[in-house]
Amino acid sequence: MRPFSVHCVGGLKGKITLPGDKSIAHRALILSSLSPGQTVIHNFPANKDCLTTLDAFKKLGLRVDSPDSGSLTVFGKGLYGLIKPAGPIWAGESGTTLRLLLGVLSGQDFETKLIADRSLSKRPMLRLNSPLRMMWAKITAKKTSNQEEYPPITVSAGRLNGIVYKMPVASAQVKSAILLAGLYAEGKTKIIESVRTRDHTERMLKLFKADIKVKENNIVMDGKHRLVSPGRVYVPGDISSASFFIVGAVILAQSRILIKKVSLNPLRTGIIKVLRRMGANIQLSAVSFQPSECEPMGDIIAKSSKLKGTLVRKHEIPSLIDELPILMVAASLAQGQTIIQGVSELRVKETDRIKSMCGNLCRMGAKIKAQNSSKGEYIVIEGVRRLKGAKIKSFADHRTAMSMAIAGLAAEGRTLIDDSDCIDKSFPEFLSILKSLIR
Ligand code: S3P
Repeated sequence: MRPFSVHCVGGLKGKITLPGDKSIAHRALILSSLSPGQTVIHNFPANKDCLTTLDAFKKLGLRVDSPDSGSLTVFGKGLYGLIKPAGPIWAGESGTTLRLLLGVLSGQDFETKLIADRSLSKRPMLRLNSPLRMMWAKITAKKTSNQEEYPPITVSAGRLNGIVYKMPVASAQVKSAILLAGLYAEGKTKIIESVRTRDHTERMLKLFKADIKVKENNIVMDGKHRLVSPGRVYVPGDISSASFFIVGAVILAQSRILIKKVSLNPLRTGIIKVLRRMGANIQLSAVSFQPSECEPMGDIIAKSSKLKGTLVRKHEIPSLIDELPILMVAASLAQGQTIIQGVSELRVKETDRIKSMCGNLCRMGAKIKAQNSSKGEYIVIEGVRRLKGAKIKSFADHRTAMSMAIAGLAAEGRTLIDDSDCIDKSFPEFLSILKSLIR
């Protein structure tokens, strides 16, 4: 655990380009592995989670070259070319690796055990194991007295069938695992979402010529179709990583930053919509969509702004689920009250982010608390004029650490954060890019 400290700065200024989006990169790598022939993935991020997926596929027989930093050449194995690994597969702390891989492994003709670190071993898996079992996947997992299931998980050879599945929890990881299992299933797999979640898997499956159709909240895919590689995939910059600098620029006086080539998938840009509603000066430019990129992307300009409180409703949550910690920082410095509804999923992320963020922000003088109603948990934030430096615990959670670092830039005095290593999970370049923007 390497602690780090931040202190009040004048503003953020400059132009940056960010490593590729973590969610998109996982999907690009998985589908490149499952289609025959070569795929070059450009702007593949070197964060711990994506490297965990890469290692997992190498254990399943994948060959990969990295001709230069930032790009990967994947020599795909096709849907049926993966081999039984010599031992258990390590998913580290990466929920996306574990859940998406479980979908793929459900369709293989060998048994695999997936193991995870302490924090991921406490995250719920029944939401995923249950629909996969309906597809006839053979899955065993650690059970607890509350009937929930956790890693380690063993998945063994089974003949899969398509299902019609109405998602009880809004989760892109669960949806994606079902779709990946659906590639191996007899017949059609249909998923119905009550609220749409990030659609990177659907877009990537289309790019790799899977037989998939999306109409509003319904996704239908026909199984047993050979994937065809597009040859190259470009991974745009990560909007979740961008959000720390966007909020930093918005809350600090005399800031103006330009972030180039960021993913602007409409199911991920909730943070921009909500910040704009709060009065943030954020502009988008050079927005483009190239078929080979399969995702919209563009440049983001963010400037110092005066923020006012807002109401964030439950249906907006999936479009900014990972940005809620940094949104809590912005709301703490806005004029008036912010209410964020439907936040219960934050309890089961890398740490309990309601506890980590409310505790840390209160220590810095923010007025933030979690409350319960018949409609679920919500957060109430009364904006304050100033935060004060404090000793902060990351709880080994990357997004808590990065959000609190940004809060520290806007606080009086020094803020000491107990751990910078956890940031490597998604964004090892965070502190160096932040330093380059500080004026
Ligand atoms: C992700 C989906 C979200 C998100 C996670 C990445 C993905 O998780 O929080 O960081 O890549 O599909 P859930 O599916 O659990 O909401």
